[in-house]
Amino acid sequence: MNTEQNNLYFEFSSVAKNELAAYLKTLDIESIKDPNVFLPIDESKIPHFKKDVERIRQIVEGPQKFLITKKVEALSLLEARYTTWALATMLGQPIVQNDLGHQVISIYDRDRSNTMAKGARYHQTREGGTIHTDNVNTPEVWEYLLFGCVAEGHVGGENILVNGLELYNELKTKYPDVLKILETQFTWECRGVNDSTYLSPIITYTKTGEPIFRHLRPYMESAHNKTNNPLSVEQIYALDCLDALCESAEFQTRVKVKSGEVFVSLDYQSLHGRSCFSDALDTINIVDYLNGKKGKLKRTLDRLWIRKNPINQ
Ligand SMILES: [Fe+2]
Repeated sequence: MNTEQNNLYFEFSSVAKNELAAYLKTLDIESIKDPNVFLPIDESKIPHFKKDVERIRQIVEGPQKFLITKKVEALSLLEARYTTWALATMLGQPIVQNDLGHQVISIYDRDRSNTMAKGARYHQTREGGTIHTDNVNTPEVWEYLLFGCVAEGHVGGENILVNGLELYNELKTKYPDVLKILETQFTWECRGVNDSTYLSPIITYTKTGEPIFRHLRPYMESAHNKTNNPLSVEQIYALDCLDALCESAEFQTRVKVKSGEVFVSLDYQSLHGRSCFSDALDTINIVDYLNGKKGKLKRTLDRLWIRKNPINQ
């Protein structure tokens, strides 16, 4: 395990927690029956919470790259989803993640019998996946990834976290030949956005020389296939080395985000994955839950992608 557990968790101040709980009581949260829709947050009503959000921004932009906020105990399950939403909207502008215009995507297993091999999308299955960044669908780089845990799974579902700076330093010092290949152009697809493809290295750099990771191997391989542009032996070698480092315990922090907790990361400098999981029998999904069905929820996470500096403002 890489990041010390004590540093991994962030607790909101008591005044921020009380302020948030009191403010959320003034919103008609239960009137919203669509899991992708959230009521707007008035930042001016929760100034202490906002102060904590700025502290969170500093931490994830610093060497640590990710953290998990502890549950605000006073909140109900539905109110706790607004911890994620308030945090996200105060960090920047939520990005639309699909062609339906959704800024929040609920991640849960739609159908136990469906798998990625049969064509299912990763976030709609119970399967584990490769270690990756979410920053792959557009040439533009955005900053923050948030997962708010609505409900934990029955078994498994560990979140696997890798600090990109530590990974980069390992590549630079021990595998410079691999780094050099990762700095060359690969083909990517704008999956979920449109049908086009674009070129980008896996590792580029900020103006101050810090690495920017773009890595989701299955999507990138799909883009190379789609454009009849097979990966070279050298490119496959570099990807194999990168994935082998990502899978090394030395670079991984493994943790299960619990109900009410929110994972926040600087996505382009921290990679993530998850182990496979199983829901219990007879669990219900978030759509049915919001529409009044009684029962235990499936493992459910709310995912947001946040651009720090809003466009057109
Ligand atoms: Fe992801």
